[in-house]
Amino acid sequence: MNCWARTEVDTANSLKIDLKDYILSNPYRPGEHALYVPEAGGIWTLQPKTLFTDEWLEHITDEYGVKVDMAQIFFRKPHYQHPGAHVDIDQNNNLYGGGLNWTLDPDDADMVWYNMPSVDPVYTKRSETDRNKEWPLDSLTEHARCNIGQTPTLVRTDIPHTVQMGENERWLISVRFTWLSSWDQYVNAFGQWIKDETLV
Ligand SMILES: [Fe+2]
Repeated sequence: MNCWARTEVDTANSLKIDLKDYILSNPYRPGEHALYVPEAGGIWTLQPKTLFTDEWLEHITDEYGVKVDMAQIFFRKPHYQHPGAHVDIDQNNNLYGGGLNWTLDPDDADMVWYNMPSVDPVYTKRSETDRNKEWPLDSLTEHARCNIGQTPTLVRTDIPHTVQMGENERWLISVRFTWLSSWDQYVNAFGQWIKDETLV
């Protein structure tokens, strides 16, 4: 089972704001803030037009036939380790399968996936747009890992996953698309632009 796939999606000139400055200058903007613990990290949901240029949003639709729904922003301080791994859940409590992720800066962390366990999860809700089910890391078996970095990479989000941090502070953009919700839909939508060596 593949959990990630590098893509050739073009993110040059995609951002219209200095993302870190925008968030840190006011981490609690209504409708965006989900969770912010300054010494550990944070999660925000940004509307497409807040973060991305009109040109890039049009390019995404023209070139890849998909529409950006929202951007989840994940920030972690160096060495911060969350004790659990989670699966993403949509607003109707169904598993949500994918995202297109890349980091703002050079990345020395690994995204890590685990086999789906048989024990019951704990439900968490960090905001209306960030719900999940979580298990303690010590109850899980590792399945795969990937250093995401600055290449836009499809990542699977419907099996338990977490991030193993390194020395670097980490800011990651996770784009979620309208009409896509399962991992297969994400893979199929970007199939033509998945790099050969990571073909799923
Ligand atoms: Fe997730």
